Amino acid sequence: MSFWIALRLSVEKLGLDIFRVLASNLLLYFSFVSLGNTGGFVPSISKAKESAHPVFSIIDEPSLLDIRKKQAGSITQIEQGIIQFKDVSFNYPTRDQLVLDSFNMFVPASAKIALVGHSGCGKSTITNLLLRFYDAEIGGIYIDGHSIADYDVHSLR
Ligand SMILES: Nc1ncnc2c1ncn2[C@@H]1O[C@H](COP(=O)(O)OP(=O)(O)OP(=O)(O)O)[C@@H](O)[C@H]1O
Ligand SMILES: [Mg+2]
Repeated sequence: MSFWIALRLSVEKLGLDIFRVLASNLLLYFSFVSLGNTGGFVPSISKAKESAHPVFSIIDEPSLLDIRKKQAGSITQIEQGIIQFKDVSFNYPTRDQLVLDSFNMFVPASAKIALVGHSGCGKSTITNLLLRFYDAEIGGIYIDGHSIADYDVHSLR
């Protein structure tokens, strides 16, 4: 009712164009409706910000082995490719149980080998260690007689 009175007053008394008055009213109406709808999201935005904080702190955590950083003097070329695991014992940081217990392996240059064993026996762990996704603190892993720690990680992978 008040809308109708205001419309008539604007057109008859003020001599405004009816379409302009209607358009400006619709514009105001939709602006306030949109504002009202957006207002409902405000608590979710602050909740999302709160939840994102621990996620980003994990992403931003500096890696112990940053492959983007070139290590001065590290080996960038593999000459022959002789791989040796010497008495390697390893457990994942989140578990105490040993996955490899004094593990030894010798792979001659240019040899193609297969790691065979039941699920969970440590096949992927062996490759994870060779590519330095994890570091074994006990024993040594060597390529052409050099510890894999001497190789540039980017080239190694
Ligand atoms: N990131 C990890 N953190 C903790 N434990 C892990 C992790 N990855 C593997 N493990 C555990 O280490 C053991 C060896 O796992 P691994 O993936 O090396 O086995 P696998 O021989 O490759 O098995 P599959 O044949 O199923 O691929 C398993 O007991 C597994 O649950
Ligand atoms: Mg596997």
